Amino acid sequence: MFQFGGQSRRKTEFFADQAAKNAKNTANPVDVSNPVGSSRRPGFTAGFPIGFKATWIAARQSVVAARDFWTRRIWQFQRQSRAMKRGLALDKVVLLGRTLEEYRRYFALDLESLRGKAVLDVASGVSSFCAEAQGLGLEVMAFDSIYELAGEEIRRRCEPDLDQVIQAVGKLETYRWDFYRSPEVLRGFRERAYRAFLDDYRRGQGIRYLAGNLPNLPFRDERFDLALVSYLLFVYEEQFDYEFHRQSLLEIMRVTRGEARLYPIVSFEASRCRYLDRLREDPALRHLGFEEVETDFEFLVNSNYYLRVFRR
Ligand SMILES: C[S@@+](CC[C@H](N)C(=O)[O-])C[C@H]1O[C@@H](n2cnc3c(N)ncnc32)[C@H](O)[C@@H]1O
Repeated sequence: MFQFGGQSRRKTEFFADQAAKNAKNTANPVDVSNPVGSSRRPGFTAGFPIGFKATWIAARQSVVAARDFWTRRIWQFQRQSRAMKRGLALDKVVLLGRTLEEYRRYFALDLESLRGKAVLDVASGVSSFCAEAQGLGLEVMAFDSIYELAGEEIRRRCEPDLDQVIQAVGKLETYRWDFYRSPEVLRGFRERAYRAFLDDYRRGQGIRYLAGNLPNLPFRDERFDLALVSYLLFVYEEQFDYEFHRQSLLEIMRVTRGEARLYPIVSFEASRCRYLDRLREDPALRHLGFEEVETDFEFLVNSNYYLRVFRR
């Protein structure tokens, strides 16, 4: 983390240095606005005393130098933190979709037990879970901020994200390839997912694909038996702060009468999300129970757990 607080002494010294340099440079100021032969009174420039102008120039130089100094420090910090990352470095939430088979493994789902139950897939994006579940006669509602867009626009946005991620993950040490075997096979899963999604989206937009933005959900209290969240909360801890996680969890549990399952609970750096323990201790979530349930699926390292949240 960039600790501005820890820099304050050095920052003060830097400003003092600059001021001293500037004072030295302007100790015998050459009054460029008062060339030889000028009719102006010596010691005054444009109506201001020389001392005042010199101070003003020195102050302006200090501000410019300070700005350049801090810009360089921030760039340096950004370069260092990128180099320190060993996992997938993303500057935004990507539009990637998983299949029903992958959801089944992430959340250890028993699909038969979902028959007759209302399931909400939060931040479902271009996943084919809703489409495939519909085909099996299950009742799934998908919710995502992209569902205000037309299918063609969604396709246009998700294809570059897929290229970027597939290129990157093959080289990273934060993935295990037991299940997918290769980036090509992984791409096959993602392509099948978004194609099946787009196909169903044409028929289901506004019906089983509803648009909106977490941390708000447009559903009545206890509308669903089960809510699922795959690859949004916890894993994107860099993009979403603690408050977003807390509000989203409260809202998801408001609309769920059964339980919510969230996967994965590690960040892209493959380390347990730093918000988890704080959420467990948060007085606003005292009415909720949390259980980290182990599964036998692990692609992102340490992602063989989902979080089960239930009402106490
Ligand atoms: C990485 S994708 C995961 C999609 C799907 N759950 C899966 O695992 O295949 C993340 C999704 O979260 C959606 N998203 C990001 N911020 C959101 C928000 N505030 N509210 C609702 N959806 C959001 C994005 O549009 C994107 O479709």
